[in-house]
Amino acid sequence: MSVSRRTFSAASALCAATLTLASGTAFAQAKEAKIGYALAVNSHYGAAAQAWADSVEKATGGSVKFKQFASSALGGERELVEGLQLGTVEIAIVSTGALSNFVPDVGVVDIPFLFRDTQHARHVLDGAFGQELLAKFQKRGLVALAWGEQGFRHLTNNKHAVKGVADLKGLKIRVTENPVHITAFRTLGAAPTPMSWPEVIGALQQGTIDGQENPVSVLASAKLWQVQKHLTLTSHVYAPVALLVSPAFWGKLSEGEKAALTEGAKKGALASRAFVDAVEKKGVEEARANGMQVVDKVDQAAFRAALEPAYKEYAKKFGQKTLDAITATK
Ligand code: PAF
Repeated sequence: MSVSRRTFSAASALCAATLTLASGTAFAQAKEAKIGYALAVNSHYGAAAQAWADSVEKATGGSVKFKQFASSALGGERELVEGLQLGTVEIAIVSTGALSNFVPDVGVVDIPFLFRDTQHARHVLDGAFGQELLAKFQKRGLVALAWGEQGFRHLTNNKHAVKGVADLKGLKIRVTENPVHITAFRTLGAAPTPMSWPEVIGALQQGTIDGQENPVSVLASAKLWQVQKHLTLTSHVYAPVALLVSPAFWGKLSEGEKAALTEGAKKGALASRAFVDAVEKKGVEEARANGMQVVDKVDQAAFRAALEPAYKEYAKKFGQKTLDAITATK
């Protein structure tokens, strides 16, 4: 063999070896996961996604990476959940507003005035009940890893100050596509209008709805004072969020990567809660500073009394025992 032919073969062998290495573990391509959520990067959802991503990248040495799609860039929450089931979306952070259409048992946490306060809600969700609820997602084609948080939902509208139940009469309130929320607002005398979040700001601007209800974290992130005049701190429903993974993506992960995603989700959930703690007071002040008329408190006992017929329906649906067990949790 001539010298030049020998040099060529050696070069090809080196090249082949490099290619083999590149396709092997040393240069394995990272598993990239699109993570979708409804709000801006600078929100409790963004905080959760970043903490989750950082933790996973660190624990897996970069073998799993997240690519963030904030502000409903992958669609509304219903589309996100469908995407997870189909495997077109790998990861999502989704409110329970959309989830009970997929996992009906989740609807129980959406019952108005079920949780006494934030600590009560966190305790129930981090305890056996909440963890069993997460396990129920599996049967519906979803992997649920942790409960994050939005805070308690409050009411905003453009018609008048809502100081009590009577003021809700006939108000067209956008609600999530959630049967428990719809029942509650209908029972209170409002006209609940289920609508996907990406349509809400436009509908408020056009006046096709009078108001909406969401926690302060959402009010601040979406700057709802630009399209709403009145805020009433009703605290009518605690709003948890689920940190979810698509089973198709989950199936591609090693046991170590699955553990990293699970641990990371817990950190993401805690990050959302810390963000909510910080924004709760600040957000109301910002709303006031931006011209919103704020009703600081309502008579919650009067709201509960008006909701009595709805509570009967919820008890039939979810079982009085379950409701009592949640209420009795310290
Ligand atoms: O109202 C909703 O639909 C949800 O709370 C939101 C704003 C999409 C956040 O998950």
